[in-house]
Amino acid sequence: MQHNKVLILDFGSQYTQLIARRVRELNIYCEIHPFNKIPTDLDSYKSVILSGSPNSVRGEDVLHPDLSEIRGKKPMLAVCYGAQYLAHFSGGEVAESNTREYGRANLAYVKPEEDFFENIHEGSQVWMSHSDTIKKLPEGGVLLASTGDVENAAYRIEGEDTYAIQFHPEVYHSTDGHQLLQNFLVKIAKVNQDWTPNAFVEETVEDLKEKLGNDKVVLGLSGGVDSSVAAMLLHKAIGENLYCIFVNNGLLRKNEFEDVLHQYEGMGLNVKGVDASARFLDALAGKSDPEEKRKTIGRVFIEVFDDEAHLIQDVKWLAQGTIYPDVIESVSATGGPSATIKSHHNVGGLPDFMKLKVVEPLKALFKDEVRRVGASMNMDSQLLGRHPFPGPGLAIRILGDLTREKVRILQEVDAIFINNLRSWNLYDKVWQAGAILLPVNSVGVMGDERTYEKCVALRAVESTDGMTADWVNLPYEFLQKTSNEIINKVKGVNRVVYDISSKPPATIEWE
Ligand code: XMP
Repeated sequence: MQHNKVLILDFGSQYTQLIARRVRELNIYCEIHPFNKIPTDLDSYKSVILSGSPNSVRGEDVLHPDLSEIRGKKPMLAVCYGAQYLAHFSGGEVAESNTREYGRANLAYVKPEEDFFENIHEGSQVWMSHSDTIKKLPEGGVLLASTGDVENAAYRIEGEDTYAIQFHPEVYHSTDGHQLLQNFLVKIAKVNQDWTPNAFVEETVEDLKEKLGNDKVVLGLSGGVDSSVAAMLLHKAIGENLYCIFVNNGLLRKNEFEDVLHQYEGMGLNVKGVDASARFLDALAGKSDPEEKRKTIGRVFIEVFDDEAHLIQDVKWLAQGTIYPDVIESVSATGGPSATIKSHHNVGGLPDFMKLKVVEPLKALFKDEVRRVGASMNMDSQLLGRHPFPGPGLAIRILGDLTREKVRILQEVDAIFINNLRSWNLYDKVWQAGAILLPVNSVGVMGDERTYEKCVALRAVESTDGMTADWVNLPYEFLQKTSNEIINKVKGVNRVVYDISSKPPATIEWE
């Protein structure tokens, strides 16, 4: 895909992904690469952004890449640590700051450059987060703006399209950060804003056609957003040569297998539903350790999938719905030369015995972009808006050992909870929701009889990426009605509780 790509060099800041998000929001394609792995094909990038970092440029030489192939040769924006490193690299001076410079500050112009500061007025709020400060600008440095505590808050290098800012334009609290990134990328770096969902679909379909030719491709559908959107893109490119497999592991939500399968068929996909419930549930019998349950499910899935893939003659490729956060390489917090790679079950998850080539059409997208791409292909909004659901399914929401009866109970409880969220228009306000079957019985009374039955927990969280989450303040009336309905309708349950723990310190799932 040939684009006006932007390269973001990552020095390990917690905000690096946020820079990428903001750039993508401008309909500009960008990639994050670790500072110590500058791509060799620099020609294919139109502009470069240097990220922040938790480290100091005064530390050992760990985060000091050679910028000579970039500085002055491509439009560059250096942010926070990047601005300090640019100064350090180019003959300026960075020292420990006397004051801690965190949080709110306001811009005061020294030289209000028209393009760089267009539509940003003096006094605009910017967000600081650093403990070093630039004492002396680099050679050719021209001061553009200061703040109350930071003299060298924004500068450029004379005669180059090289800009540097001490604050973070990518965070929400830098009120004009979005405008500033746009000014730099569009006005100064002259990057075209042509990266739209429609353009992505067109180009990806063309690329896939070229790459796959008449080859056959197999893809595992999960009912989730990523694999479904990946399937639609491949379907547009190669039609009947895409073979989708949707495995029922017996741990899906109530009626999910039938409903989703039906929906896939309606989308014109060539999909085979494989009901392997018994195989999974038999393999899980007697296992109560969460990790053992996960491993068993993973192993059986590969066996079932492999059996099915072998039934397709001459299949050459395995397609996966891997998305960008799964593959980003990020530098370790210490900034050491060894970059750590975020591991994820989807990445490199190809068993050796399946000698297939891998194709991952969504590898460059964030989750919300996947949804936008799906919407631009007119995919069903309910499918695109589905809550995340873990691969091991209800197995990790049934604490301890698993039986068919427990799965049935939880499916019933979960269905009432989720249906009620939908009918109360709460489903789309919640990031993820589900019910958990606890391994305890408690005493209750129904009619005149004593009961001794199961307890279920309901969990609903808000989050953006699942990394941190908070419980949702669902209306009491909703909880009251849902709890009543569960206890009245689901045999074997006499108690319902609502989980009010945030992540951290809890996790979203209970196992
Ligand atoms: P936790 O429980 O770690 O969950 O806060 C964060 C997100 O990850 C999902 N999750 C999983 N997804 N396999 C998956 O495919 C798993 O083993 C697994 N465990 C947790 C969880 O549902 C939430 O969205």
